[in-house]
Amino acid sequence: MSPPIRILFVCLGNICRSPMAQGILTGKLKEKKINAVVDSAGTASYHIGDHPDPRTIVAAGRHGVDISSYRAKQFSYDFFGKFDIIYAMDMANYRDLAGRAKTGEEKAKVKLLLDELHPGSGKGVPDPWYGGDAEFEKVFKLLDDVCNKVAEKLMEPKFN
Ligand code: 4NP
Repeated sequence: MSPPIRILFVCLGNICRSPMAQGILTGKLKEKKINAVVDSAGTASYHIGDHPDPRTIVAAGRHGVDISSYRAKQFSYDFFGKFDIIYAMDMANYRDLAGRAKTGEEKAKVKLLLDELHPGSGKGVPDPWYGGDAEFEKVFKLLDDVCNKVAEKLMEPKFN
């Protein structure tokens, strides 16, 4: 069996969007019996060691996704060696990550997540941090859609 593909989701704080995406994709891959490693990180240090935002935990929990045990960590350069695909939640995260890459191979690992749904559009997952329950629910639905696409992609022969 080939080694598992390693996927990292990255947002700013690692307490809203990226842990939600991690929980959603982890569930889908388990369901489909796809062998992969899924993790998440933030570009900023503000929330290192924190659990996801309570609103994130509640929104995910409503859909049967339990992320209450996750802890935030900050992206560091060595993550380029630990992951095969690094999905940025928005253009600011994308630029930050691409700017840290030292080789073309590392830079090529960084992708804008919503490009999986809308190639080349430059669209980002909106940051729900300043919003309420409705924003968190909207972000869950968007992440659920794009994670379906990512899971389909991982079922392609080149990833197996
Ligand atoms: P995230 O949301 O990047 O989706 O985790 C945020 C979380 C915290 C902050 C900003 C965005 N903050 O400014 O602390």
